[in-house]
Amino acid sequence: MSQHHQHDILVIGSGAAGLTLALTLPSHLRIAVLSKGNLANGSTYWAQGGVAAVLDDTDTVESHVADTLNAGGGLCREDAVRFTVEHSREAIQWLIDQGVPFTRDDETDREDGGFEFHLTREGGHSHRRIIHAADATGAAIFNTLLEQARQRPNIELLEQRVAVDLITERKLGLPGQRCLGAYVLDRSTGEVDTFSARFVALATGGAAKVYLYTSNPDGACGDGIAMAWRAGCRVGNLEFNQFHPTCLYHPQAKSFLITEAVRGEGGLLKLPNGKRFMPRFDSRAELAPRDIVARAIDHEMKRLGIDCVYLDISHKPAEFVKTHFPTVYERCLTFGIDITKQAIPVVPAAHYTCGGVVVDQQGRSDIPGLYAIGETSFTGLHGANRMASNSLLECFVYARAAAEDIVSQLERVEMPSNLPGWDASQVTDSDEDVIIAHNWDELRRFMWDYVGIVRTNKRLQRAEHRVRLLLDEIDEFYSNYKVSRDLIELRNLAQVAELMIRSAMQRKESRGLHYTLDYPEQLSEARDTILQPPTYVD
Ligand code: FAD
Ligand code: SIN
Repeated sequence: MSQHHQHDILVIGSGAAGLTLALTLPSHLRIAVLSKGNLANGSTYWAQGGVAAVLDDTDTVESHVADTLNAGGGLCREDAVRFTVEHSREAIQWLIDQGVPFTRDDETDREDGGFEFHLTREGGHSHRRIIHAADATGAAIFNTLLEQARQRPNIELLEQRVAVDLITERKLGLPGQRCLGAYVLDRSTGEVDTFSARFVALATGGAAKVYLYTSNPDGACGDGIAMAWRAGCRVGNLEFNQFHPTCLYHPQAKSFLITEAVRGEGGLLKLPNGKRFMPRFDSRAELAPRDIVARAIDHEMKRLGIDCVYLDISHKPAEFVKTHFPTVYERCLTFGIDITKQAIPVVPAAHYTCGGVVVDQQGRSDIPGLYAIGETSFTGLHGANRMASNSLLECFVYARAAAEDIVSQLERVEMPSNLPGWDASQVTDSDEDVIIAHNWDELRRFMWDYVGIVRTNKRLQRAEHRVRLLLDEIDEFYSNYKVSRDLIELRNLAQVAELMIRSAMQRKESRGLHYTLDYPEQLSEARDTILQPPTYVD
């Protein structure tokens, strides 16, 4: 039997953004936090490098803002950048207060104005400003926030719950546009339950799983972006897919990232003959922004016909490497690579979705009552290329801003009542699940081949043709069979892929992460690519 749940706030996603929102809201509110797998299954848990923030007294807001604008290829919204950076210190203080065990800097002389935690460097940053917990920052943050959430009786943490679609007044044929809740598959019962809420927040992470090779965990399917689009929200800048330059290249290593902090602490990129190549591409060499480094690696791999390049930190003392990068050291060792003695084989892989659901500075989407926070949102912070470690920062700053906005509206918004249950009367059990696996594989392969680091009109047209065919097939499948997590994810991935391709086709220039051989130059005017769904109401 399907169930009906009621909460003041429904938070879809249990990563950095979702947990921060839940913990920042007042404790008298009833909050549900959903995860479609176990609670740790988002990208947050896997974050390595850290969180960028202005923490050292010799660093400035102006410098962090300038670096972000510079990495963003002229497309960042300066107000969003400034807002995020100006709130960075208080966001980090909040994390410290929650108990996050950031790595301390034993050598800091605080009387000199130094900061008591160790700060590392990453690409695009002109200053040491990345606070971290060795090279497992995401796990340290996630575990701490989860522990805090478990101690709050008003927060219900619900695992294995897959949101299928949002419920809005428009969809129910009621006057108004408000979001009233969501239909959610309970994987333990196979039933789709109805969740009503006064406010709903999408904190569902990114969509890098749309590509064959990615640093992201399996759930990064763009569910929130697809749900918001179907509900009538605009999406922005989805052509900007960030490829992380250095993922471990090894047949048995699935999605393992080698943190950019390795380059920040002196790691060098080399060709198989041991020669460096980054100085030929950018004066910042290994610490150029990610779009430049990933494109340079792609270029060298194609030029020389090689399978990978190498990241070498073995010239640093072994103890330094092991202390700063214990996770990377251990993981590489399991594949027979001792990073204190040898270089690491690396390739670029899809890593981060810079675009997403269009929101304002409080995380409000186009639909009243619906917020989007974290990687699923498009705030304008990242422009055409996200600067390293600005993503977690965005999760904290915007989740906290959304909480404040929700509180300011509480008195005006009532609990929706009498929402209809999910209608499964027209569907049956599928006996053709092989179609889902096949379509999933095909989608990720052509996105990698045709919508990757280097694009052309022809490749994008091919991808567009294929995604249209897939969408038709998936639609038919969806109308006839009961929903499963795989089907929901495939439907969303295909929808987001179509939006990415459409956005890429609209951009007739090369800028940041979008590089096309047909328009290699950057236009003088920088414009966002905003797509409007047919259901959008201004
Ligand atoms: P996530 O942490 O991805 O969480 C998404 C949540 O949504 C999950 O709980 C998932 O179950 C849930 N969900 C999704 N769809 C549904 C659905 N349909 N129904 C119910 N629940 C759903 N950024 C940095 O700033 N610094 C770093 O050092 C860094 N390192 C990284 C390393 C790796 C390997 C990766 C993959 C990313 C890294 N990033 C880093 C990026 C950063 O980790 C992510 O952008 C950020 O964690 C996203 O947080 P989030 O809360 O938006 O989403
Ligand atoms: C990394 O540690 O290299 C990832 C940092 C990021 O994605 O911001």
